[in-house]
This record gives sequence, C-alpha cells and structure tokens, in this order.
Amino acid sequence: MVGLPAVRNYWPDTKCAKAFWSQQEVRPYRQLLADTVGWCAPAPGDRWLDLGCGSGPLSRALWERTQGTVDEVLGLDCATANEEAYAQLRAGLSPPPESRLRFLCHNFSDGLDILPDESFDHAVSGLSISYAESYSEAEGCWTAAAYDRILGEVIRVIRPGGRFVFSVNVPEPKWWWVGVLSLGDMFRAGRPLRFLRRARRMMRYGGWLKREARTGRFHYLPAAQVTEKLLAAGFERVEHRTSYAGQAFIFRAYKPGA
Ligand SMILES: C[S@@+](CC[C@H](N)C(=O)[O-])C[C@H]1O[C@@H](n2cnc3c(N)ncnc32)[C@H](O)[C@@H]1O
Repeated sequence: MVGLPAVRNYWPDTKCAKAFWSQQEVRPYRQLLADTVGWCAPAPGDRWLDLGCGSGPLSRALWERTQGTVDEVLGLDCATANEEAYAQLRAGLSPPPESRLRFLCHNFSDGLDILPDESFDHAVSGLSISYAESYSEAEGCWTAAAYDRILGEVIRVIRPGGRFVFSVNVPEPKWWWVGVLSLGDMFRAGRPLRFLRRARRMMRYGGWLKREARTGRFHYLPAAQVTEKLLAAGFERVEHRTSYAGQAFIFRAYKPGA
C-alpha cells in the first residue's frame, strides 16, 4: 500500500475482528451464508481460497457441506486474531481437517503474489473485497486499482473453469435494517450481553465503512459496475442475486477454459 494517507484501518485490529465474529449468529447473515455456499456448490477434492475469511464461517460451511472431503480450504485475512478463530474451528470440526483447513494472515490490498498461479480450484469471499484500498498520490485520491487488482489476482490463482463466488454490500447499505431483523437472535445466541456489545461495535465500524465508501476508499458498488469489472478482469458467465436482507449482492463468475 504505497503512498496511503495517514488514515486508520481498523480491520487488522483484534477488537474489530472479534466484533464481526458475532455476525454469524444473526438471521440475515445466515441467509447470506446459505445463499453463498449454495452457489459455491463445493465438491469432494476441491481446493478453495476464502478471501477476507474473518473467523471462517464460509471455510466452515465448505468443509461441512462436503463432509470434510474438500482437499483444501485456505482462509486469508489481514487480522491476526482470526488465526485463533481458525484454531478453534479446526478443533471443533469432524473429520478433523488438520492442515487441510488453514489460515494465512495477509493484506489483499497488496495483491496475492504469495499465492502461485492456479493453486486453487475456486475462490469464495464474504463481504470483504470491497475493502481493497489503494491511494494515488499523483491524483491525490482513493482509486479502485486495488479492487480491480484483486479480481485479476483471483482469476490468476484459480484453475481454468474455476469459479469465484463472493458477496459485497450494496451502495449505501442500511445496517439498521439488518439490525432490526437480527433483534430476535439476541437471546437465541446464548450470551445476550456479549451479543449486544459486539453488535454495538459492529454498528460503529459500519458507520466508519460507509463514510470511507463515500470517499472512494472502500467500494460499495452497483451490481452493473461489479459485473463490468469482473468481465474486464477476464471472468465470464457473470451472474448476481441479492441476499442479506437486500443489503448485499452475491456474484458468481467463471474463469474461461477447461
Ligand atoms: C465483514 S468481514 C467478513 C468476514 C467473513 N468473510 C464473513 O463472512 O464473516 C470483512 C473481512 O475482510 C477482512 N479484510 C478487510 N480488508 C482486508 C484486507 N485488505 N486484506 C485482507 N482481509 C481484509 C477483515 O479483516 C474482515 O475479516
């Protein structure tokens, strides 16, 4: 991230990472998860990359959906706290995944040079790639270069015929609406006070994310623009639908070939 202005990025912070661990407990998110994994349609022997994996809900779903027959799931995220979440995840899964389900701490705004070409069959990402950030000193503004680059990197690291299934928030997402639809889950989650604390924190981070999206630093884009970017990166058969109480798009796109 050369030339970034002196602004804070909360994503690598443990507090921020942990605030989003509770996201999985609410109904709109569980619907998003089910819709995303439905489009992933993972199969035995698959190698999956989970970009911006957080505590690993999608990695877990890929594992469980295939009853542990996927060959590999690599969760990649910039927050080291998620390493601990993956250790807990591995300990709770059956059959035990051991090194077949791993976490890698990495900032995807720097690209994915650490991953070889075609090292995965498919890639998945949940509400994450919108946060790829790049600043142009020459132009004195945030740009979409890191977002575009990550799409180019995903197509490089998956095999021909592989798919990229990902969710991104819609422009100006209404967090309050997700909050309203999640209220009933507070008691079902078991520890309501912890739930409330994390929900409050998540709303605060949500305010920060929307403010930064308005400056062009983060990217809550219309579906037509995301489609254009996927096609420009070389993907084909691009489709999308809405989920997450209307606050996210899910995209599926394929790398040509095979
Ligand atoms: C809204 S959370 C979603 C987490 C997870 N995918 C899920 O579905 O619960 C966004 C995730 O993107 C990660 N993230 C944001 N910017 C990133 C970056 N530049 N590089 C890697 N991960 C990033 C955050 O750390 C966070 O875990």
